[in-house]
Amino acid sequence: MKKIAVINQKGGVGKSTIAVNLGYELAVFGKKTLLVDLDPQAHSCEIYKQNSEVRYTVKDLFVDPKFDISKVIIPAYVKRERLNDLDVIHSNILFAKVAEQISSRIHREKILHNYFRRLPYDYVIMDCPPNLGVITINAVYTADLILIPVSYDKGSLDGMADLIETIKEVKEASDSTYLIVRNLYDARNKQTNTYINSELEPFMKHTLFVKLRKVESLNQSRIAGEPIQVYDPQSKGTVDYKELMLELIKHV
Ligand SMILES: Nc1ncnc2c1ncn2[C@@H]1O[C@H](COP(=O)(O)OP(=O)(O)OP(=O)(O)O)[C@@H](O)[C@H]1O
Ligand SMILES: [Mg+2]
Repeated sequence: MKKIAVINQKGGVGKSTIAVNLGYELAVFGKKTLLVDLDPQAHSCEIYKQNSEVRYTVKDLFVDPKFDISKVIIPAYVKRERLNDLDVIHSNILFAKVAEQISSRIHREKILHNYFRRLPYDYVIMDCPPNLGVITINAVYTADLILIPVSYDKGSLDGMADLIETIKEVKEASDSTYLIVRNLYDARNKQTNTYINSELEPFMKHTLFVKLRKVESLNQSRIAGEPIQVYDPQSKGTVDYKELMLELIKHV
């Protein structure tokens, strides 16, 4: 089992979009995958939700360290059909208060790790909130690989040094612990692309070859509540996510 945490403390760089579509891509490739929504905004789990209310969420794992994890693992649904090989741990807005609730607990950065030691999955994908708080630190601690999306604007790179420093501190890291993926690429914006490429130069050996292009149907697929591969199988987004998955599984 390999655990991938999708992290960037900057908002809107594509963490949830990547978690959702990478999770689907791994599952249809035959990899048994668990998507874990660690963000109270609940953007990644909501598209795989069946109509019914979800009774238990990731919050239960954090609040009660002895919770039965099988209760929070829910099959993923698309268009009311059960997806083979994809399960989800849901989140909701109540998760926002958890950081306070566990603030005095010892080993609070290892809560997820203790739950995720032995699970029957090939891949676990964790979608993190846009901050470096205790929830994100839990994901860093348990992850085999940290996937850092950056978009083509200066802001998405601003926190990179802090993030990498945090990863190194938490993991006493070997060099291979993190990979950067470029998202929202638009070939027409030549000056911006040159700037971002020069800023990424020091991280080139950690940067994936694939560039996820800016594709309107990715936005639309989110509105429709479907992964891109279902919403628009012919789109550039579908092509890019296949490439991302194939490149990533060579690393982890
Ligand atoms: N390659 C892409 N092409 C077009 N739109 C995209 C692409 N990637 C992400 N988006 C859009 O950008 C917006 C932000 O993406 P997303 O919610 O995945 O970011 P995030 O990093 O998870 O944000 P947050 O930090 O708030 O959790 C969404 O509307 C999403 O549909
Ligand atoms: Mg998100």
